[in-house]
Amino acid sequence: DLPTRRLSLLTPSGHLTLGNLLGALRGMAADQGSGRCVYGVSDLHALTTTHDPRELAAGTRELQTLLLAAGIDPDRSTLFRQSDVPAHTGLAYLLECTAYVGELSRMIQYKEKGRDRPQTRTSLLTYPVLMAADILLHRPTHVPVGDDQRQHVELTRDLAVRFNRTYGEVFTVPEITTPAAGARVRDLSDPGRKMSKSDPVGAGVVYLLDPPDVVARKVARAVTDSDTGPDAVRHDPAAKPGVSNLLEILGACTGTAPAEAAAGVATYGQLKKATTEAVLSVLEPLQARYVDLAADPGYVDEVYAAGSERCRTETAPVLAAAREAIGL
Ligand code: ADP
Ligand code: NA
Repeated sequence: DLPTRRLSLLTPSGHLTLGNLLGALRGMAADQGSGRCVYGVSDLHALTTTHDPRELAAGTRELQTLLLAAGIDPDRSTLFRQSDVPAHTGLAYLLECTAYVGELSRMIQYKEKGRDRPQTRTSLLTYPVLMAADILLHRPTHVPVGDDQRQHVELTRDLAVRFNRTYGEVFTVPEITTPAAGARVRDLSDPGRKMSKSDPVGAGVVYLLDPPDVVARKVARAVTDSDTGPDAVRHDPAAKPGVSNLLEILGACTGTAPAEAAAGVATYGQLKKATTEAVLSVLEPLQARYVDLAADPGYVDEVYAAGSERCRTETAPVLAAAREAIGL
């Protein structure tokens, strides 16, 4: 009954990007073997905004396959699909009966993306509660979280503490920790923002399944600047966001620090060529594994069915304890 060492969920909204790979998937793969890792495809979280059912089904399958292609190993990690573990929605309802509308409507993401729109789905308001259920069911002792999700994990703690205080000690209250500094990949055509799978398809986003010529074209068109000095290729995110982003990517793909990646690269043309080659050296093997896995959908199904079954078994006692405590 060891606490989960590592829990990560990825939502099938849009196609995975190079940012997701370098900032999330790589670390997820690297952490395997030194503890328990539970990795999930949070398909329920993709229902909070307008969606196309067929696209969601296809996107879920693509994400399930990409996690395997990126090196998540079902012999060392549990891979599950959120909607196949009914305790997630079961516990979310009990936590909704613990959460206040006021605190949910103060969540920054809800304020920015939904509050003042007439057709905002109720689930966009309550999605942080489902996220709290995701976390509390798997009982991690620590949750590493970036700035954009910090408020939601703080809510998770508040709900756990409130529930425990009101009904008895049911939940492990997780500590919030800062994630290991992974690469922060910016949009190639707008380095002021992060490269994101959630944005509408953009010229500045490298998707993991982009063919090599598309990757090359996107990198070739990346925004740089008009600096032609002898040290134009240098890592200086404030003054040179576009160039620094390419160096971040180059460094992350070759296993060097961005500043070191600049050594020996004199021109933006050379930088883009080196970056394209480095990105392709990472993407090509991943894509080859993806093709093999996609040709064997029965295997992918088996992996997630087994992992979801394991999660149903492991999360059932947490939901049962919460039900009993609340009087059901
Ligand atoms: P997206 O914005 O692409 O939809 P999410 O917010 O769903 O991504 O985040 C999924 C995971 O990928 C998180 O761990 C997040 O930190 C990581 N991630 C997303 N975009 C980037 C990026 N541009 N650079 C580094 N990591 C990223
Ligand atoms: Na996002």
